[in-house]
Amino acid sequence: MPALIKAVRGTRDLLPPDTETWNLVEAAARDCFGAFNFHEIRTPVLEDLALFQRSVGEETDIVSKEMFAWEDRSRAESEKGQWLALRPENTAGVVRAYIEHKLWERAGVQKLYYIGPQFRRERPQKGRYRQFYQIGAEIIGPPASGSESPARDAEVLEMLATLLERLGIQNWTLELNSVGCPEDRVRYNQALRDALAPVVNQMCGDCQRRAVTNPLRVLDCKVPADQPIIEKLPRISDYLDEPCREHFYEVQRILKALAVPYTINSRLVRGLDYYVRTVFEFTHGALGAQNAILGGGRYDGLSEALGGPRAPGIGFAIGEDRLVMALAEVRPAETAAPDVYIAAMGAGMNAEAARLGRELRHSGITVELGDESFRLKKSLETASKLGARFAVILGENEIQSGQIAVKNLATGEQQAVARAELPGRIRQNR
Ligand code: HAM
Repeated sequence: MPALIKAVRGTRDLLPPDTETWNLVEAAARDCFGAFNFHEIRTPVLEDLALFQRSVGEETDIVSKEMFAWEDRSRAESEKGQWLALRPENTAGVVRAYIEHKLWERAGVQKLYYIGPQFRRERPQKGRYRQFYQIGAEIIGPPASGSESPARDAEVLEMLATLLERLGIQNWTLELNSVGCPEDRVRYNQALRDALAPVVNQMCGDCQRRAVTNPLRVLDCKVPADQPIIEKLPRISDYLDEPCREHFYEVQRILKALAVPYTINSRLVRGLDYYVRTVFEFTHGALGAQNAILGGGRYDGLSEALGGPRAPGIGFAIGEDRLVMALAEVRPAETAAPDVYIAAMGAGMNAEAARLGRELRHSGITVELGDESFRLKKSLETASKLGARFAVILGENEIQSGQIAVKNLATGEQQAVARAELPGRIRQNR
């Protein structure tokens, strides 16, 4: 026997009925984002590796350890290969597209959302996959469009609270912080360096390196032995300048007016380098170790870092895998059952059954066709197993008389219905 080929480590198949929940979540997101005037963008899964190095940052875990990247040799032999990567997140791609298509020439701010797979070579565990899905949204635009306004920060946070509420997800906590502007960060990084200098030799290798290259990233360290040291490090909130403080204050003032609950977490710095000012995560009790259901923040300098014009922005990405897990707590997945099961009583009836199926589907009825047993008892059993509301029995007699036998599988009641009345009768009683 040839060896079995299985799904690649960290990837998984999404099967029915779970896919029903995925579709429900995606439909709710589209609907909710639409009400906030967001429109969909689809960017490629494949991007130039440099895009992520310059946005997410070379010192982040995502870029330094978790990228699926390779030198692509599909160009002419004489040319150098191009380094490609499977996207680990979608903000960089959206900003690249914003620049490439000069979206700043369009009126107002751009409000874009996306739904799609992302790839990170992380150690797989519950809620953490190598191919996972994000539902994200970004607001980006020239400063004159108001893209820098704290009202935008509050708008995306309110939109998230609205979506979670509509889905019936409770027990979430919005953790909020401000990581200031680049100037604040220079001062904060220096404070971190000073605080780390006497203790860094007791820390892990990554921290020792980062203490020199990008001290902020020390705060992402997950090594348990390093945590007591990290706990005592200075907090970014003490290093914000006046405009950043005010911006953060205003975000909170609007959130309070909107009655969106939040807690300040001054240790929250997020694992991507492009953030400035507002950063946030929503955590959820039922998710265990991987409890961040979504994360996001401001990235006012990202467009310029990628060679574009000044275009402040803010956005978030929901981990769809985790959102579906949280939803499964409150709403078990169910496969939608067909309305009608058509049982043909002989191979000669197949064409007629197909024709009837076509007519019924045309009127919005979900139809499953028979199992080729051509036996009444067996057909009714199959129809019940599938959860169909009605079984329609189609034999010579029915076709000749134009009266079709319809059995309500819940009550067991059977009636003869004129063929022309069938769609209406089924729709009425669904
Ligand atoms: P992120 O925090 O890296 O942010 O990812 C957002 C969310 O994606 C996480 O909160 C988590 O729910 C989910 N996620 C991340 N990695 C995995 C994984 N390996 N398996 C399952 N779920 C995962 C970003 O990606 C930013 N682009 C968000 C953003 C948009 N910031 C501004 N705009």
